[in-house]
Amino acid sequence: MSARPDKLSVLFVCLGNICRSPLAEGVFRHFVRESGLEQRFHIDSAGTSSYHTGDPPDQRTCAVARARGIELRGASRQIGPDDLDRFDYVITMDEENRSAVQRLARKSTGRATLHRLREFDPATNGDLDVPDPYYGGARGFEQVQDMVERSCRALLEHLRAQHDL
Ligand code: 4NP
Repeated sequence: MSARPDKLSVLFVCLGNICRSPLAEGVFRHFVRESGLEQRFHIDSAGTSSYHTGDPPDQRTCAVARARGIELRGASRQIGPDDLDRFDYVITMDEENRSAVQRLARKSTGRATLHRLREFDPATNGDLDVPDPYYGGARGFEQVQDMVERSCRALLEHLRAQHDL
C-alpha cells in the first residue's frame, strides 16, 4: 500500500542519509510548501547504508541550507524493500545509490518509479550524480546545495505536470 494513499509520496535516497538526501527532502518540502501543495505530498528520505542510523542531518549541510532559509530535520534511517512498495517515487542521489535500490527492488513489488535526482537538473553537463560531499571541503556543500535546489525545482514541475497538481 502507498505511504499515504491520498498523497503523492517521494523518497530521497543517498548513502548515509545525513547529507544529500535530507537536504533534498528539506529543499523539495520547501518548494512544495511555497507552491501551496503541502497536503498533496508525503516526503521522506533514507540511506542505503546503516552507518548513521538515528543521527540528525550533518551540521555542514544544515548550515548551508539554513543560510538559504531551509531548516533540515529528521534522523537517518536505512531504506528497506517495503519502501519500494510504499513510495510512488524513489529519487537517488547517484548511480551507486540507484544500483543499491535496484538490488532491493528484487525483494519488493517494485511499485516505485526510480530516478536519479539530476535527471531533472537543467544544468548537468552530462553528469547525473550529486557528488558525496562528506569527506570534502565547504565548497562541495555549496555546490551540492545548488544542484539539489535546481533539480528539486524541476522535479516538482515534472510531478505537477505528470499528476495534474
Ligand atoms: P550522504 O553522505 O550519503 O550524502 O549522507 C555521506 C555521509 C556519511 C558517509 C558517506 C556519505 N560515511 O561514509 O559515513
